Amino acid sequence: MANYADAFARSIDDPDGFWLEAASAIDWMTPPTKALDDSAPPIYRWFPDGTLNTSSNALDRHVAAGRGDRDALIWDSAMVGEKRTYTYAQLLDEVSRFAGVLAGQGVSKGDRVIIYMPMIPEAAIAMLACARLGAVHSVVFGGFAAPELATRIDDAAPVAIVTASGGLEPGRTVEYLPMVRDALGLSEMAPSTVIVKDRPQVSGSATDFGWLDWDQQMATAEPADAVEVAATDPLYILYTSGTTGKPKGVVRDNGGHAVALAWSMRYVYDVSPEDVWWTASDVGWVVGHSYIVYGPLLLGATTVMYEGKPVGTPDAGAFWRVIAEHGVSALFTAPTAIRAIRKADPEAAELAKYDMSKFTTLFAAGERLDPDTFAWASAKLGVPVVDHWWQTETGWAIVANLRGLEPMPLKPGTATVPVPGFNVQVVDADGKQVAATAEGNIVVKLPLPPGTLAGLWQDEARFRSSYLQAFPGYYLTGDSGYIDEDGYVFVLGRSDDVINVAGHRLSTGSIEAVVAAHPDVAECAVIGIHDDLKGQRPSGYVVLKAGANISDDALRADLVKMVRDEIGAVATFRDVTVVQGLPKTRSGKILRKTMRQIVDGEEYSVPSTIEDKSVLDALVEQLGQE
Ligand code: COA
Ligand code: AMP
Repeated sequence: MANYADAFARSIDDPDGFWLEAASAIDWMTPPTKALDDSAPPIYRWFPDGTLNTSSNALDRHVAAGRGDRDALIWDSAMVGEKRTYTYAQLLDEVSRFAGVLAGQGVSKGDRVIIYMPMIPEAAIAMLACARLGAVHSVVFGGFAAPELATRIDDAAPVAIVTASGGLEPGRTVEYLPMVRDALGLSEMAPSTVIVKDRPQVSGSATDFGWLDWDQQMATAEPADAVEVAATDPLYILYTSGTTGKPKGVVRDNGGHAVALAWSMRYVYDVSPEDVWWTASDVGWVVGHSYIVYGPLLLGATTVMYEGKPVGTPDAGAFWRVIAEHGVSALFTAPTAIRAIRKADPEAAELAKYDMSKFTTLFAAGERLDPDTFAWASAKLGVPVVDHWWQTETGWAIVANLRGLEPMPLKPGTATVPVPGFNVQVVDADGKQVAATAEGNIVVKLPLPPGTLAGLWQDEARFRSSYLQAFPGYYLTGDSGYIDEDGYVFVLGRSDDVINVAGHRLSTGSIEAVVAAHPDVAECAVIGIHDDLKGQRPSGYVVLKAGANISDDALRADLVKMVRDEIGAVATFRDVTVVQGLPKTRSGKILRKTMRQIVDGEEYSVPSTIEDKSVLDALVEQLGQE
């Protein structure tokens, strides 16, 4: 399989043959005889008659193959100055025993477990332990506040929550336990079991709240065996921002996920089991699920888990130190991290201090890799800088430069070509395919390949309405862009109210809901505006109620605190502007896109359906744009 065009064509013309062949990279308990179940379009399933266990594919089989002494996970914390390495045999031991702890608390196949943890090895151990039991994990990013955690608890109805005393952010600790307590208080589906990994650096412990202590439980735990599950059984739920305030519970299956990730490690990333691979993200995001935990371990490679930032922990050489110290061959991170390093160290003076000889490739995703950052990183690092585009929903790359298949010339501003399995097209509002270079909605012809979302947790109606109904026969990505004459896909941005702040996906709708709840606010709009470092940031425009008596500063302070308390620090909501009115269509829809164009200084369009042009004119004057 060396030629991209042939591989892509076969994946589209003969998906069954293509993916059944890829499935041989996985150890099945019952090998599948069929790859694609297309009996109920537009819902598709993969490997309908196969059974397996994802955790034993990530651990047991490497140990059984005599690779138990190989490093599986290297934890490097710039926050506490500590490093820890687990071989495959050691990680298997920890995971089996923690699976025993969970089983002792009544967790079994199909049960949900919420994992709310910082970047410590126990987060990966808890995920793999759930997979071992056939339980469904739902990891919640540590930057979310109690109400967001509560929403996820209510939707997933977990049997247990696994957490830690807290996380470490530069200059402060984040105490998780009071947030877990508050979330339990807010939710209707609160589980009775909470297991806490105590971190000495953060105050609060399991005993303070009457919960179970991770270490005590592990001391007496009996290892649990891997449970056989159907390929189509859920492995995890990962909540992501939609256009409304209510997050979407993206469901990933076991079989398709294992096959797709194993395939991607070799053909998208060109990683071998002898390599040390590092994804600098967080286990709370899809990138962390797929490429800190499952992908590299399914392959049998070494994965690095890093607790720290690209800058300030302690300096802009932090990433280069980790690469040099652990012999990392490829790093996957978000463009924001590169921009942060560049801002702090424009000449990359820190780079010269480290041995980068093993480093071959930098992968970027999570947001558009802007040509400027691409050029800087390429010049300074002297290795290919590879953009690739994907989403929580797809779980792995939709468009990439396939390093293990047929690397193609890199062009700035594009993630290159559709990955085998993803029949990417660009269509206009009527669903008609547009000409090369014309911008439109990026869609993927169904079926999506293995590893992509199996649905939304217990909400098939929303799955259909969000992704499958806009253009029948196609999956709606929510991104807009174009394909050039060479078949390269350029992703330009979201066409909905989802924004991307430092590679973190947020819903402006959920921020708006918080802002609108302020007693002095009559109405508001939150839009994502350009930010040099973070790509985008949320910016709020507020109309006050008649007679409201609050200064702009006091209003801003209130709103910033409210968003932080309700959604979390990760929302990075800081901009508040009081305006006289919001431009709307006659049907009352706020012209958010026009507002964003005005604020970003772009040419803006005025729809013919505008209700009152003078409101827009006043806004243009206030925001200082022509
Ligand atoms: N737990 C609790 N709080 C968190 C958190 C976590 N896991 N992660 C971030 N936060 C907090 C930060 O402390 C910050 O709080 P503050 O307002 O009190 O300062 C806030 O959320 C915003 O964080 P962030 O957007 O990350 O900004 P930053 O200034 O701390 O760091 C970068 C900026 C560029 C260094 C950082 O965003 C980064 O490394 N980005 C890489 C992107 C990435 O990994 N994306 C994942 C998808 S691939
Ligand atoms: P998430 O679900 O958090 O991974 O965010 C997915 C969204 O991030 C996509 O729909 C895109 O809008 C954006 N995104 C991710 N990777 C890229 C990329 N390489 N280029 C452009 N946008 C990207």
